[in-house]
Amino acid sequence: MSSIPVIAIDGPTASGKGTVAQRVAARLGYHYLDSGALYRLAALSALRGGASLADETAVAIQARAMTVRFAGERIFLGEDEVSNAIRAEEVGNSASRIAALPAVRQALYDLQLGFRQAPGLVADGRDMATVIFPDAALKVFLTASVEARAQRRYKQLIEKGFSASMADLLKDLAERDARDTNRAVAPLRPAEGAHLLDTSDMTADQAVDQVLNWYAGRAS
Ligand code: CDP
Repeated sequence: MSSIPVIAIDGPTASGKGTVAQRVAARLGYHYLDSGALYRLAALSALRGGASLADETAVAIQARAMTVRFAGERIFLGEDEVSNAIRAEEVGNSASRIAALPAVRQALYDLQLGFRQAPGLVADGRDMATVIFPDAALKVFLTASVEARAQRRYKQLIEKGFSASMADLLKDLAERDARDTNRAVAPLRPAEGAHLLDTSDMTADQAVDQVLNWYAGRAS
């Protein structure tokens, strides 16, 4: 088991965990793993490679073969910068579909462990605390109301130049929640011992402070 500390931040779609996790990582000088981006990259890779999203073996092969590179905020798939392309709702939905396939999750397992580097890692996703880093020093389950999450996602999409409709987003979030929560492998749920944080009425910085307080006060 590694002695490099991990802070695992899991939660449903658009709960704000990406923003919070990134800021916690910056404050501590830790590395950051956006595991959802890996599922989005695998989905994009499958879509571009012409694999049917229902073909578990083909999608897993694509996922293993992809070369990904994170450079600050920029994300590359092979030579292509895909930082914005992977944020499209279509890619998010496809990611949530292929994330239900055990072979795909397995294909991304070692890649995720590789992000655990000194002095520490903040990892965000759905199963960081339950499956990938069960020995995390701190486990946080971040939630927010569906309305707050739809509003955050709306703002995020518009800022990135995508068009978006609130009605579609609300429907989409509910579908994504159901799929992530009800799947057989690595379903979205709080890990044992996780701190629950409802951020519906919190700013991102307030959530960051809470996580840092828990981390500073953790039993070691
Ligand atoms: O941005 P959003 O929260 O909607 O999603 P994301 O974190 O970018 O992840 C995209 C999809 O990948 C999610 O809907 C999940 O189905 C899946 N995922 C997962 O299964 N396990 C993870 N550790 C991270 C993401």
